[in-house]
Amino acid sequence: MKNIAILGSSGSIGEAALEVCRRHKDKLRVVGLSVRCNTKALLRQASEFRPRTVVVGCDADARPVMRKVRRWGGRVLRGREGLCRLACEESVDTVLIAIVGSEAVFPLRAALRAKKTIALANKESIVMGGALLMREARRSGGRIVPIDSEQSAIFQCLEGHRVADVERVYLTASGGALYGLTKRALRRVSLKRVLAHPRWKMGPKITVDSATLMNKGLEVIEAQHLFGLPLEKIAVVVHPQALIHSMVAFRDGSLLAQMGVTDMKLPIQYALSYPQRWQGVGLRLDPARCGALTFEKPDTRRFPCLGLAYEAARRGGCAPAAMNAANEVAVGAYLAGRLQFGDIPAVIDKVLAADWPRTVSKIEEILEADAQAREGAVRWAGILGKRRHFR
Ligand SMILES: NC(=O)c1ccc[n+]([C@@H]2O[C@H](COP(=O)([O-])OP(=O)(O)OC[C@H]3O[C@@H](n4cnc5c(N)ncnc54)[C@H](OP(=O)(O)O)[C@@H]3O)[C@@H](O)[C@H]2O)c1
Repeated sequence: MKNIAILGSSGSIGEAALEVCRRHKDKLRVVGLSVRCNTKALLRQASEFRPRTVVVGCDADARPVMRKVRRWGGRVLRGREGLCRLACEESVDTVLIAIVGSEAVFPLRAALRAKKTIALANKESIVMGGALLMREARRSGGRIVPIDSEQSAIFQCLEGHRVADVERVYLTASGGALYGLTKRALRRVSLKRVLAHPRWKMGPKITVDSATLMNKGLEVIEAQHLFGLPLEKIAVVVHPQALIHSMVAFRDGSLLAQMGVTDMKLPIQYALSYPQRWQGVGLRLDPARCGALTFEKPDTRRFPCLGLAYEAARRGGCAPAAMNAANEVAVGAYLAGRLQFGDIPAVIDKVLAADWPRTVSKIEEILEADAQAREGAVRWAGILGKRRHFR
């Protein structure tokens, strides 16, 4: 029996992970859950799984949750410190991190230091501090098994192979909801249209990231760190059918691909069952019904966020953290109706133009850059947001 703590349990990945746990009750026990403010979902989940520890964000009213979990001797922790304590709890075997955004960097670092296995969905944490976090993993013996479908595909294709024999990895991008639109149409596209992703049902932030192609940019940086690959060996290819989740080309000319239906329960389950494979809980892919599979080069002129992510990756140091912070602020402003879609890359570009430190030795330096970039991004989002009224 594996004891699992699910951080970000009220989100799209968190709920899918709970579904996997529900279907494999004989193998997985949920011992920890966390939300930021959605205590309604937490109450429902806690009543079903009866975890020992739950964590709620600092601003949420935790009283109803406290009353509930005390019935079975559970406890409620708060905020960042609570997340880190849950991630290190002795009874926890695997920490599944499904928090969105940079906040995940804290429990991830804590879990690595405590030598846990981490099933990692969050990508922002690795983009921010990948080099330092992977160094921490090597030092402590903590292990990351990716959940992100593209990274899971690469992870699976690499099983039994040496990274040194990899010629190139191809991260596939479905193209999101807007791939066919012109540059002009993209500038003012509505939020409703952006959130209608044709293939995946995800949280709002990653759905916007998919539409800007920043999601693929974040994954390029994530793959660099998770697999120790140089940037030149990581390519992106648009594959609208989203049935191949990524591919690895080896130096002998073989190209391995991992395929499956677009259902996050598949990579979530693999991260929890690894190195075994358990009975799948979702639909199966029938190759005879797939139809044509197509591939094309991404258009970085229409989707500049992908190019910005490659630039940040090339610069290294604090640049990826600054880019990530600027993106979080810009996407937040877009979701709140304060920016237009076309302004998202503009905000990131402005922030990235600053001279960010080229080397980092401590996570505190990354956090400092993150805070500075957020400040700059809020300023630029304000300026660009106001300007749109005069266009
Ligand atoms: N969804 C997918 O299919 C998918 C695929 C691959 C990778 N990912 C990655 O997985 C992560 C989660 O994505 P998602 O789509 O599941 O997001 P989501 O639906 O928005 O859920 C986010 C979860 O994180 C919690 N949370 C948000 N901000 C927090 C904070 N500051 N501190 C603590 N908890 C916080 C939320 O709690 P509340 O509900 O209380 O706000 C919620 O439980 C992202 O990094 C995303 O890039 C997602």
